[in-house]
Amino acid sequence: MLHALDQVCFPPGIAYSYAELRSFLHHPSSSTAVACSTSASQNGEEHILGFAVVRSVRRRLRESPSPAPALHILTIDVAPEARRRGVGGLLMRWMLQKGTALNLQSIVLEVSIENHAAQRFYRHFGFEVTGTIPGYYNGLTDALELELRLDPVAPAAPAAGATGE
Ligand SMILES: CC(C)(COP(=O)(O)OP(=O)(O)OC[C@H]1O[C@@H](n2cnc3c(N)ncnc32)[C@H](O)[C@@H]1OP(=O)(O)O)[C@@H](O)C(=O)NCCC(=O)NCCS
Repeated sequence: MLHALDQVCFPPGIAYSYAELRSFLHHPSSSTAVACSTSASQNGEEHILGFAVVRSVRRRLRESPSPAPALHILTIDVAPEARRRGVGGLLMRWMLQKGTALNLQSIVLEVSIENHAAQRFYRHFGFEVTGTIPGYYNGLTDALELELRLDPVAPAAPAAGATGE
């Protein structure tokens, strides 16, 4: 079902093959979130509205001399009929929570220079363009590299009454 949704969300050549998506979903460093709705009109059955797949990676980030831990968005897909209702935002909040909980420095991704809707979506959440990869999609279409820096987790405050060294 996730593969069928990915085929609807991306044009041929950019949508993942079944084998690619399967390998992403099963990779040990990947995580997937699925957004569902349950409606009475569908006899209480769950209907998939969207999903996102991310992977922990090490990347050379802006202003960092050596590769740093980051969350790489492999895909985020929202069904056309469910768009502009906050489903993508819900999946993005899951990614932000995950990246922060893992103490990662950034969320990174590639997006087609032709995908203006997705670029606006990422800009809405504060992502910035860090580079361009010529011919990233099938050697034909360039990709923009985007990055969002994550706030470091503040160290836990000492419990009341605890003494320092
Ligand atoms: C990009 C995508 C995930 C956005 O999902 P969504 O559920 O529609 O996003 P949200 O409703 O949470 O949108 C949050 C904000 O992003 C911006 N945004 C999202 N889609 C937009 C669009 N088509 N045009 C302009 N701004 C857009 C808006 O600021 C929006 O807030 P608003 O609706 O209050 O104005 C969805 O369009 C999608 O699945 N597209 C096809 C697959 C894709 O391109 N994925 C990204 C590949 S890198």
